[in-house]
Amino acid sequence: MIIHNEQNQTFTLLTRHTMYQMKVDRYQVLLHAYYGPPADVDSDLSDFIQCADYSFSPNPNEAGSDRTYSLDVMPQEYSTCGVGDFRLPSIELELPNGSRSADLRYLRYELQKGKYSLPGLPAFYGGEKDAETLIIYLEDAAAQVTVALYYGVFEEFDLITRAVRVLNHGSETVRLCRCASLCLDFLRSDMDFVTFNGHHLMERCLDRAPLRSGIQSVGSIRGASSHQHNPFVILCDQDADEDRGLCYGAMLLYSGNFEAAAECSQFENSRFVMGIHPYHFCWTLEPDEAFTAPEAALICSPGGFTQMSQQFHRAIRKCLLCDPYGPGQQKPVLINNWEATYFDFTADKLIDIAKEAAALGIGLSVMDDGWFGRRDDDNSGLGDWWVNETKLPGGLKDLTERIHALGMTFGIWMEPEMVNEDSDLYRAHPDWALHIPGRAPARGRGQLVLDFSRKDIRDYIYSQLKSVLSSAPVSYIKWDMNRSLTDVWSAALPAQRQGEVYHRYVLGVYDLLERLRKDYPHILIEGCCGGGGRFDGGMLYYTPQIWCSDDSDAIDRLRIQYGTSFAYPTCTMGAHVSAVPNEQNGRVTPL
Ligand code: GLA
Repeated sequence: MIIHNEQNQTFTLLTRHTMYQMKVDRYQVLLHAYYGPPADVDSDLSDFIQCADYSFSPNPNEAGSDRTYSLDVMPQEYSTCGVGDFRLPSIELELPNGSRSADLRYLRYELQKGKYSLPGLPAFYGGEKDAETLIIYLEDAAAQVTVALYYGVFEEFDLITRAVRVLNHGSETVRLCRCASLCLDFLRSDMDFVTFNGHHLMERCLDRAPLRSGIQSVGSIRGASSHQHNPFVILCDQDADEDRGLCYGAMLLYSGNFEAAAECSQFENSRFVMGIHPYHFCWTLEPDEAFTAPEAALICSPGGFTQMSQQFHRAIRKCLLCDPYGPGQQKPVLINNWEATYFDFTADKLIDIAKEAAALGIGLSVMDDGWFGRRDDDNSGLGDWWVNETKLPGGLKDLTERIHALGMTFGIWMEPEMVNEDSDLYRAHPDWALHIPGRAPARGRGQLVLDFSRKDIRDYIYSQLKSVLSSAPVSYIKWDMNRSLTDVWSAALPAQRQGEVYHRYVLGVYDLLERLRKDYPHILIEGCCGGGGRFDGGMLYYTPQIWCSDDSDAIDRLRIQYGTSFAYPTCTMGAHVSAVPNEQNGRVTPL
């Protein structure tokens, strides 16, 4: 429920177990007043904010001689910069005169039934019965920029989603150098920061530490959400456990560079900001142009981690996944040939594996890397999405017929974002790979990254994928991504827009996934990024299942899947059983 109290100038968001309140104060600043267990909806909880004259905490000009009001102290709903708040900013605007600041004041609000959507970006969805939307418009009058804060309230799941849209309504060009999706201020700092970290072969391991003075952050500047950190974190009571304590889970529905930072300030307050990483981000807004920051999702649980996780799981299953296997339908158990054959396979070998799998009741046979172009190892072939008929005589059609005859469905591996220099595609279009003019681009796994910020390149790749998919009935795609982005520069954009390439790349990936999903709604797409290097809420919107890790050792998987489960439901985890001794660590664990 969303309640606007005219008299108090408060906005209160009520869910089953929580309450969230904002307040427009006397200077039209939007304060964050409260987030926690339900309190009296009619009371103005900003009364708990204490004002005093603090040295070195400036006062806004309109406060006149009142030295007790400072943006540096007040909890902000969406923090500004350069005008008196020295804590983590959410937004930074560069004006044509070179100034860098942002000063936001309340304009108006709007209520909508149902959940807002974000064209081109992944987001929770919900009809009129599931969710409500509140939009609060703020304005930076000097910059002539409007900032719309979006709130989606899903009462049943205690889920509050947030997104931000920045519009240049002036007549001059403005540059947006930072645009977080979420800012959350607390009048306390005695909390733990829980993050999920690791590396390739050991993703999302739980780490927990108390907040301390200064800024603590996790993030990625690899172009993907990464194996190293995850865009899901928790802030909680220091004694919170599975069953007790107040905790706040924050998820960014985004698959590229991100930052999740918590700051413990001088007055023992704290601020949490999450969004696109400001590294190499700068978006040019011409007059009437807008930028939309990706969605963030919050769940507060007054009853420990279990309640928070279960609410995230319910919300993700019901309002985020676009799954060809609807609620209650079991996804197929699959056999994948990767560790059995690597690149060295033929149709006959795959059929031998499928026969054994079929006898065990496994329903889906997946052909991994190596079926296309001249791909006999990982140095060549990416970009050439045509079937290698030496390995697969009769193409996919023949192979799928043989798989279907075993009573199984067929799935295929792809890595559409990448190209090898040793490929027909690269020989024809060397300029299609991300590179900085004058620098030889870094290789990762011997491959380069296609400039997916460009529609012409995406269109070409999509036409290749379509011709593969139209050659045989495919029920499943494993969409892989096996390196981090470097040399991020696009030939299609002018110099002042190069700070847009990382984000435009992610939008490009989403665009292609969206097209696939629309054209082939029956295909289950499983996300993969060297295992779990892009396991996030953004990808889950398009790929309702994600390869959890390239580490398929049963014991290691306990740790990986335990960390993953704090935010993401079991049905989203590609969970493997593999031969022993395990390929990655040599451990022998009985089935
Ligand atoms: C990545 C994936 C593996 C496999 C290989 C193929 O590493 O995580 O499962 O598909 O690529 O090259």
